[in-house]
Amino acid sequence: MVKIVVIGVGKFGTNLLNTFSQIETEGRCKLVAICDINETLLENQCKKYNVKGYTNYKEMLEKEDIDGVAVATPDPFHREPVVYAANKGKHIFVEKPMDITVEGCQEMIDICRKNNVLLQVDFHKRFDPFHIKVRNDIREGFAGKVEYGYAHMEDKIVVPRDWFPGWAPKSSPVWFLGVHMFDLIRWIMGSNGKNVYAKGKKLKLKSLGVDTYDSISAMVEFENGAVVTFDLSWILPDDFESIVNQGFRLVGEKGIIECDSQDRGTRVSYEGMGVSTYNPVFISESPDKRTGKIRYSGYGIESIADFVYNLEYLSKGGSLDLLKDGITGLGEDGIEVTKIAVAAHRALESGKVEFIN
Ligand SMILES: NC(=O)c1ccc[n+]([C@@H]2O[C@H](COP(=O)([O-])OP(=O)(O)OC[C@H]3O[C@@H](n4cnc5c(N)ncnc54)[C@H](O)[C@@H]3O)[C@@H](O)[C@H]2O)c1
Repeated sequence: MVKIVVIGVGKFGTNLLNTFSQIETEGRCKLVAICDINETLLENQCKKYNVKGYTNYKEMLEKEDIDGVAVATPDPFHREPVVYAANKGKHIFVEKPMDITVEGCQEMIDICRKNNVLLQVDFHKRFDPFHIKVRNDIREGFAGKVEYGYAHMEDKIVVPRDWFPGWAPKSSPVWFLGVHMFDLIRWIMGSNGKNVYAKGKKLKLKSLGVDTYDSISAMVEFENGAVVTFDLSWILPDDFESIVNQGFRLVGEKGIIECDSQDRGTRVSYEGMGVSTYNPVFISESPDKRTGKIRYSGYGIESIADFVYNLEYLSKGGSLDLLKDGITGLGEDGIEVTKIAVAAHRALESGKVEFIN
């Protein structure tokens, strides 16, 4: 059985805990321990998931006998625990963005290769069944050569303002949101970024004391010649219909694809609560009468569960190489995405087109 620990059990780390605990009830993995530097949070999560807790990941990795480590610390703090755990021969699952420097990503890849361990990056948009269909169509050539496209991903302002104002200034709409869409478009087309031009604004959040970009628009030329514009922001009003607004379109010689990845067709309005749209294919919760617990499903969960399934596969003699260009986001994908994001930030500073390298 696959034995796992989680480092960073905050907002998104909770989804990791829900996923691993659920798979544990199926007898396919064991959540051995968790780690967070926030002692109160750690104590609560330990109680909720009935698991051992540590405030120091090094101590946890010294003491526990495990196969894999999942890292959900804030964006700039993935590198250190990943490198440490990989050097101990543990398989890695790391939240996006893999790291906010290309050198950091390269170090993570090198250490994982040296230790022959999996380096998996959580690019969950690959697990969305709508996106899988689009990718299959593009790879079949139905739309011909993609010429241009557009993608947007926008959060409500509550995310940087209230959820993590402490580390939002160390992140940006590109790091927090753009990386999802950069990966999705490059995964669909099978092509990496070549150059990027970007403009951004620092107005609203700065006025609220959170010094980060409100919005960034980046035009990326990919190696296949397609030019895709990404509009990324985290300042949508509190009463917007969902936490995240997202979607994309791609136009090729022979076709057009338009995908609303936010509004999946269910719209509700309740007294005093405005209008909401649901994206239940991301993470949905339903009561499971068999276990008496909540059952989590959706592409946000599958993307995390995929780590367990990969470790099972590897433990049976599966090859790391065979995972490439599949649904799993790997370190090799994470670094390509970080290269686009780093170049986009360079373009914001220089005002020029920047090469992605
Ligand atoms: N896949 C997705 O859709 C998705 C969505 C949201 C966030 N994320 C990513 O998940 C990561 C975490 O985001 P979040 O929203 O959960 O942030 P958060 O601030 O809620 O949680 C991060 C946790 O990490 C802990 N931490 C920081 N340094 C640590 C260390 N050295 N050792 C142990 N714990 C440490 C913090 O105390 C905190 O509890 C980020 O990289 C973010 O971009 C992914």
